[in-house]
Amino acid sequence: MATDIPLDREAVETVPTDSIDRVIRYHVQTKHHFNRYARALGYLDWANQPDPFRRFEGAPLVSLPLLKPDEEPVSPAYHAIYQPGAVACQPVNVRTLSRFFEFALALSAWKKAGESEWALRSNPSSGNLHPTEGYLVLAQFDGLNLKPGLYHYAPKEHGLELRAEFPAEQIARLLAPFPPGAFLFGLTSVHWREAWKYGERAFRYCNHDVGHAIGTARIAAATLGWNMALLDGLSQNTTAMLLGTHRTDDFQDVEPEHPDCLAVIWPRGDVKRDTSDVKRGELTEIPLFLDPAVVKELAECTWHGKANRLSGEHGVEWDIIDDVAAASWKASYEHISVAAPTSVTSHVSPFTFHEGLLAGQIIRQRRSAVSFDGKTTISAATFFRMIQLVMPRSDRPQLDRPMPWDVWPYEPAIHLLIFVHRVEGLKPGLYFLVRDPQKLTFIQQSMNPELTWSPAPGCPEDIPLYWLLEGDAKKLAIQISCHQDIAGDSAFSFGMLAEFEGVLRERGAWWYPRLFWESGLLGQVLYLEAEAAGVRATGIGCFFDDPVHEIVVVKGLSFQSLYHFTIGGPVEDRRLMTLPAYGHVKREA
Ligand SMILES: Cc1cc2nc3c(=O)[nH]c(=O)nc-3n(C[C@H](O)[C@H](O)[C@H](O)COP(=O)(O)O)c2cc1C
Repeated sequence: MATDIPLDREAVETVPTDSIDRVIRYHVQTKHHFNRYARALGYLDWANQPDPFRRFEGAPLVSLPLLKPDEEPVSPAYHAIYQPGAVACQPVNVRTLSRFFEFALALSAWKKAGESEWALRSNPSSGNLHPTEGYLVLAQFDGLNLKPGLYHYAPKEHGLELRAEFPAEQIARLLAPFPPGAFLFGLTSVHWREAWKYGERAFRYCNHDVGHAIGTARIAAATLGWNMALLDGLSQNTTAMLLGTHRTDDFQDVEPEHPDCLAVIWPRGDVKRDTSDVKRGELTEIPLFLDPAVVKELAECTWHGKANRLSGEHGVEWDIIDDVAAASWKASYEHISVAAPTSVTSHVSPFTFHEGLLAGQIIRQRRSAVSFDGKTTISAATFFRMIQLVMPRSDRPQLDRPMPWDVWPYEPAIHLLIFVHRVEGLKPGLYFLVRDPQKLTFIQQSMNPELTWSPAPGCPEDIPLYWLLEGDAKKLAIQISCHQDIAGDSAFSFGMLAEFEGVLRERGAWWYPRLFWESGLLGQVLYLEAEAAGVRATGIGCFFDDPVHEIVVVKGLSFQSLYHFTIGGPVEDRRLMTLPAYGHVKREA
């Protein structure tokens, strides 16, 4: 029972042995309170700042071409990535893979202030610490001069390090159940990078970042007309084995990588079926798992490289991060498949589309706002379109859901408690977006019974947005967001409330990271949508957990706020210089 979980770390005498209790203990222990932040070093140990770039010494590096925005493959229109079938499907080759990684995980700029320089990337990251590492598993491709194998993506070089060479026949066997042209994309986290700054709360941030990276990868794939699905039937041991994170010799005396997930990506055109031609049940299936026996064989092949050390010393090790990582390890293996996507049914939004904007331009210009002007308003139509894009439409088969929700093999577990500050046509106050309409009653019963749930005025009927309270919520939003003005000076901000204890007890402790992944994926959609609407967003990982819950009087641990987000008119920091992403790389013509 939740009440058995010690709420105060001073009172912790016995550590729970049940994995669900252990993740709940982690969550409770890493809350920020008004009078006490989650445990961290309390200062920045600059001498041991982690290297943001992992490399595998001894692994051959294959440089990817640095493509200009107007070089092939050119970017589709931004709105086209949300229209099924609107983006021409590209073949998998070195140029399209280069674009894929550019939009998913590459550097997007360098920032310079005085003597300091730091890189930004297509994927955002809490504290810009970038714990997420990306991997590619490739079969033999005609015309692609890359050996079949496992590659680690090196963002600073925009290159692929060959970690393992897989025999062509074996990797072909692994990928045989997938559509032609399929490859795998993997993510791991170096927990230490976040823990260096954020201490015990770091496991949460690493998983937000995984969610953002799933989002950048799904969107990058969409710009190339590719599909993507998370292979979440896999056990984490299999993911570890394929990505090589279990190879202790390759990580001797260095920071380990935690294997997070694998996804399959394939050129969409090869499996698309026309519903008029193919009866239900005869559709091609996409498995959400890999054959563990083949992965085991592949893991016995030739490996290259030893991971570099990221920090000279680690002042403090945060044992609870290792404990929650172990407790939330997915030991189960599910033999699950999803129907291949059906032919195009257009779900065109009734709201303003961003004519003339290219997806690539929006992806490259995405930044977190460091402050907001406290006056920019957005129109209700813009607000509703943003809200609409985070609706997963989980009543549809997975691969027929709107991008990027087609990557996500689950019904939504994250709902939004929204603080509307400056949306023309909407009264300021507190609103609630129920991302799965079936959950409305459960949500209402888990919160203050005195709240009135009126449909938000002017909101399209198919968006379950409710108006809870009228009033100026700017100060409240700032206060609960660790006193950060960005939560109140924007047009709106929100907390992502996750269905929490029930989901963990029903589905298992391995669901804990997935709740953060879903929240990061949602944030990524809005990072881009904010840019397209001429405003800007910022993720907010620092908030006071229970004071958020008290606003709507959440019962027990039924819901927990996992991530906050804010969108509005940005104020640039003019002291910073912006330099090109790859000015430091010289490629031969
Ligand atoms: C999970 C997460 C949590 C974040 N939390 C905060 C925050 O509490 N306050 C803030 O100002 N920025 C926050 N950010 C924004 C990051 O600082 C920003 O992503 C990082 O500096 C990289 O900059 P970029 O997003 O412009 O690429 C967060 C970002 C993420 C992904």
